[in-house]
Amino acid sequence: MIDAVATVEQNEIVASASSGSSGRSYGLLRLRLPQAIEVLPGQFAMLKPHAAYEPLLRRAMAYYQRTVVGDALHVNFIYQILGRGTQSLAQLKIGDPVDFLGSLGNTYEIEAATGREALLVAGGVGSAALFMLAEVLVAQNIPTRLFIGGASRDDLCGLDDFVALLGMENVVSATVDGSFGAQGFVTPPLEIHLQSNRARSMIIYACGPDPMLHRVAQIADQFDAPAQLSLESPMACGFGICVGCAVAVKHDCPEGFVYKKVCTDGPVFRSNELHWLHGS
Ligand code: FES
Repeated sequence: MIDAVATVEQNEIVASASSGSSGRSYGLLRLRLPQAIEVLPGQFAMLKPHAAYEPLLRRAMAYYQRTVVGDALHVNFIYQILGRGTQSLAQLKIGDPVDFLGSLGNTYEIEAATGREALLVAGGVGSAALFMLAEVLVAQNIPTRLFIGGASRDDLCGLDDFVALLGMENVVSATVDGSFGAQGFVTPPLEIHLQSNRARSMIIYACGPDPMLHRVAQIADQFDAPAQLSLESPMACGFGICVGCAVAVKHDCPEGFVYKKVCTDGPVFRSNELHWLHGS
């Protein structure tokens, strides 16, 4: 892990979606890191404009892609422009310095996919946390299929990159407004695929909003398929100090669960270890 100043190599709005009650925009940020570090699928970094006091806290961003250019390591992030933190990132120009803390968090258990078909389930900007995993799975010749969902076509973040990597025949899309792929949520096509195939020979990896992850966990349980879920959680520190990212996991105690930290124990958890609280 390094706590260092990275440099903006690229920063652009890659999609703006206007369906629903409000517009949503997504940016692609590419940083050049000052030194080589380990960058694993599922891991994340904490970012903010260098020396800025507003926002004070860094924002957690999942790695989307990593590339080596010359002797420099570049990492890409896809982010949804939502609040002050991400708005400040959207204003960064090429050459600007960025406070970078990373790599943070655990990674997916990729060995668990050996001998299985890997089903990747992505909701909205959660797809970013699955792209490097898809690259590794493809490199290991593990059959890989993506189920990607969002409110509209412009919310299917990274779709073109996934299609280029996996082939169109291995990408199943769903949009709530029906502007691309099946109409509705992404979980029904996942369920249909598990129903019509040998579910026990499959493994699920998912990242997206909590309601989607909860439904994926239910489907995995129903079909007795292992699933690893990358949780999206608000994070203040990113390295286990603030306890602002607690998640309930099953435990043999009177309450039936204890809390773990998404930033250091996760963000990737097995679906059958999570204790879904009422309403989550
Ligand atoms: Fe501070 Fe996890 S973000 S403990």
